[in-house]
Amino acid sequence: MPRNKTNEGPIVIRRAAPADAEALRRLEASYSNSPWSKTAFVNDLENPRGASFVALDASGGPCAFIIGVVILDELHVHNLGTMATLRKRGIATRLLESSITQALNEGAVQAFLEVRSKNFAAIRLYEKSGFVSQLIRKKYYADDEDDALVMTKTIAPDVRKRSSTEALFSTRK
Ligand SMILES: CC(C)(COP(=O)(O)OP(=O)(O)OC[C@H]1O[C@@H](n2cnc3c(N)ncnc32)[C@H](O)[C@@H]1OP(=O)(O)O)[C@@H](O)C(=O)NCCC(=O)NCCS
Repeated sequence: MPRNKTNEGPIVIRRAAPADAEALRRLEASYSNSPWSKTAFVNDLENPRGASFVALDASGGPCAFIIGVVILDELHVHNLGTMATLRKRGIATRLLESSITQALNEGAVQAFLEVRSKNFAAIRLYEKSGFVSQLIRKKYYADDEDDALVMTKTIAPDVRKRSSTEALFSTRK
């Protein structure tokens, strides 16, 4: 059996709920200079087509999360983070896989996300998970004027299915 990199400590992954919002806000504030507000978390966690998950460490507290929402037939990954002391153990990869599986069940065929061009750890994570950079939004982030990379991944096994975005692009050709 392949070695599960999270075996060092029992990490449990479950669906995230609106009641997790405050704990996730505090978790993000522990490593980010521009964390989401509680309201921002609540808004996505209340979305009936949410694909958000939380990872719980051995003590039962949240140590990582992914916030995803299915819009039409697309999964939009809005936020993802792992507690600084538990990084590089495969937790974010597992969360991404959980969100994608949930989105597939919701009928999504493609995943989208934006990431800071200087966030090499996250870009590497997404590339390793099969995401490909599609375009750059110049100076997208107001705080430091970093560019945003828009990355996508086809998640539906049936490649004949087309996402709404692709269909829109194709009619413009
Ligand atoms: C990016 C982040 C979510 C990764 O979480 P994680 O749980 O450590 O990720 P994983 O352990 O699943 O890493 C999977 C792969 O990503 C890449 N990766 C992760 N962290 C990396 C780092 N610091 N440097 C280089 N590559 C890295 C590696 O390829 C890794 O695979 P490997 O361990 O076999 O080499 C985490 O560093 C984080 O929370 N950063 C701050 C918030 C953030 O930037 N979120 C992304 C917003 S778009």
